[in-house]
Parts: sequence; C-alpha cells; structure tokens
Amino acid sequence: MSSYLISGGRKLYGHLNVQGSKNAVLPIIAASLLYEGVTVIRGCPDILDVWYMVEILTSIGCDIVWKEDELRIDASEIAFEHLSRECVGKMRSSILLLGAAIGRCRHVVLDYPGGCTIGKRPVDIHLKSLEKMGVHITEQDGVICCEAEGLTGAEIFLPYPSVGATENLMMAAVMADGVTWICNAAKEPEIVDLASFLEKMGVMIFGAGTERIGILGKCHLKHTEYRVMGDRIVAGTYLLAAAGAGGEIELSGVDVQSIRSLLHICETMGCQVRITDRGIGLKSTRRLFSVKDIHTRPFPGFPTDLQPQLMAVLAGARGESEIYEHIFENRFRTAEELGRMGADIQIKNNRAVIRGVERLSGCHVFAKDLRGGASLVIAGLMAEGDTIVENSIFVERGYQDICKDLTQLGADIKVINGK
Ligand code: UD1
Repeated sequence: MSSYLISGGRKLYGHLNVQGSKNAVLPIIAASLLYEGVTVIRGCPDILDVWYMVEILTSIGCDIVWKEDELRIDASEIAFEHLSRECVGKMRSSILLLGAAIGRCRHVVLDYPGGCTIGKRPVDIHLKSLEKMGVHITEQDGVICCEAEGLTGAEIFLPYPSVGATENLMMAAVMADGVTWICNAAKEPEIVDLASFLEKMGVMIFGAGTERIGILGKCHLKHTEYRVMGDRIVAGTYLLAAAGAGGEIELSGVDVQSIRSLLHICETMGCQVRITDRGIGLKSTRRLFSVKDIHTRPFPGFPTDLQPQLMAVLAGARGESEIYEHIFENRFRTAEELGRMGADIQIKNNRAVIRGVERLSGCHVFAKDLRGGASLVIAGLMAEGDTIVENSIFVERGYQDICKDLTQLGADIKVINGK
C-alpha cells in the first residue's frame, strides 16, 4: 500500500489549473450508453473511479479508447445483464449505470450496493422513482432485478434531492415516452453539467439547476463531443490547503458559483478571496478565525465532500468551531486521525466541536475514505514535522495527482511505498 510523506510548515504559492470533475464525469460516462455509437468526453480526470467505470463499460461490450484527457466510448453494441457485487462494491457510483442501462437494455440485474465507509447510502429513492416510470423491480437475497417493457414519462417527486437518483432518472427519461418531470430534484452543478451533455446529445431538457427538471424522451440522439466541468471539490480542497498552510494561490478551470458557500466560509475564517481573470485567488496568513454553525447541505449549501478538509483547517484556527453533518452519518471518522496529530475535536451524533490548537504535529495517520484522506493531507501540510498518510489509494479515487499539484504550489509531499 502506498502512502504520502508530507513535511509540514511550508506555505503554498502559485497557480494551478484544476482537473475535470469526478462527480460530473462519472454520470456523463454512464449517459454515453444511451447513444448507439461513439461519444467523446474531454477533460476526463485520470482517477481510479474513472478506471473502474471504464472497466465496467468494457465488460458490457463498449469499445473504449482513453488518450490523455479524452475518452472515446463506442457503445454501438452492449449487453447489460448483471452488475455484480464486485463492481458495485468497488465503486458506489456504478449505481449511476442503472438509469441508462434500463433505458437502453430494458433488463438489468444488480447486487444490492452494500454499506460504504462514509454511511449507509441506500438506493430506495432511485428504485421507487424508476418504478413510477414503468420499471418492474424485485429484490431478493440482496439482488435487485429491474425489468421494463417500455418506459413512460411521469411526474416524480423525490422525498430528498438525491444527486444520484436525479441523475439516474434524467438518463432513464431520455428513453421514455413523453415528458418526465423530476420535482425536488438535486440542483448540484454536476446535474447541470449532465443536462448540458444530454442537450448536446440532442435531448430536450429544461430546468436543470432548479428543483424541477423536465426531460422529453425519445429525442433523436446524435454523436456528441463534450468537455466536463472543472472539479469544484478538488478546487475547494486546494483552497482549504492554502487557507490552512498559509500563502497565496490562484486556481483556474473552476466555476466560482460552484463553490460560493466555501468561499464565504474562507472569508469568515479571515482569508482574502478574490475573483481573478483566470479564476479564484486566495490569500491566507495561516492563523485563522473559528467558524460556528457550519451545516453540510445539498447545493447551494456547503458540500459534504469538503467537510473533512474544512475540519482539518479549523483544527488550527483560533477558538471554537462547530460543524453539523447532515448528509452522511460516518463523515466524521477523520476526526480521530486528526486527534492523533493534536487536534481537539469532540463529536456527538452529527455535531463536531473543534477547538483550534496552535500547531498540529506530524505523525502516522490512516486515510479511511477519499475526502477524509484529503483532509489528512491538508493537516500534514499545516503540521510541524513529518506526517505519513497511509492508504493513499483512497485519495487516488478522486485526485488525479495530488502530490504533483501540491508540489507545484510549493508543498513538500511525495508518495512512498509501505510494506
Ligand atoms: C452525495 C452528495 C454529493 C456528493 C456525492 C459523493 C449531497 C446531497 N449528495 O451524492 O454532493 O458529491 O455524495 O460524495 O450532498 N439517500 C437515500 N436514498 C436514496 C438515495 C440517497 O436515503 O435512494 C440519502 C443518502 O443516504 C444521503 C442523502 O440521501 O443521506 C444524499 O444522497 P445522494 O445525494 O443520493 O448521494 P450521492 O448521489 O452519492
């Protein structure tokens, strides 16, 4: 298993162009299955989750060429039958294949996606909503069987604005008769990116980015070439790294509106944020103010995917901060590892109280999930001395080359091989 070795205490300076978005590219890759031909996706990040997705698509008959940041997917002939636990377990996002697969093949069997390290992550909203479009679903012994003779457009109200369910429904709706309305839909920027992709493919789609999305099914689909949006979570991670370690950085390739909630928190902590010609600039003196009452929420609220990274930064801020996690129940697990580095964090249910300390101390810590791993990397940059973050494989699921990026900004970080 590989790890990161970080020598802390260096400020970050310089400019960086942010990689393409993981949470946008995965559903877009899934949506390429809707078209019986070739689709080209650019800005594709070279990360483990994309590799897993490519592996699954290849196994069902797609012909895929991946060159630099360009993915060329030929889905002319596919046969989709059983999505095994091996696939679903490796990458939770494989559930995103459901909508497109039913739309295209009408019959899909998948093993129930089990628990995940950041929480239970059920799929009931996905399944109940698909049933409203005419999909017949049976569940037995952990296997979900979906069958549809024909899909029909419907008005579907989501009990929660689930990102994955909204994406699955958008894709299934492309193949349905008539119009599908998704009410209380997720409004995340990645939903808007998927809608832009589908629109380019020829689909008539309205209201993406609002709580009511309409999709006209059975439009004539065509060959599409599309560039995915920049990764707002990667951008947020690097902005938080600079906030915690100090320095001045500028990021390009990311939409400012997509991380407004984070920029607001950075300003409250005492960082200077500026919108530049190229993107976003952030300057930090390192010793920041605490922030009370941070709540993770669906977009445009503060994203759960940046919560662990923010926690690392607040661990070194002056005074007492408070974070409430409302999306995933196990997203505070990194607090324990931060505690080994000297952070003072008390967790009770979904509330974390963080009392800032003067300095974190480098030590040996263990990443348990993707964003938690990124949080430990930030803590390592802030800390005195050396930090080893074990299980870098988690971080590689979402960051193309975090060592290269942070080194470019002046950090001292490298990959080392463990036992
Ligand atoms: C979630 C995040 C998304 C993030 C992604 C990867 C939100 C709203 N969603 O998307 O921003 O990028 O993880 O970390 O922040 N739920 C159900 N039943 C379902 C589906 C979801 O109860 O069928 C619950 C989940 O347990 C969770 C909440 O709804 O508490 C949000 O889930 P959802 O948005 O679907 O998760 P992802 O699509 O994975």
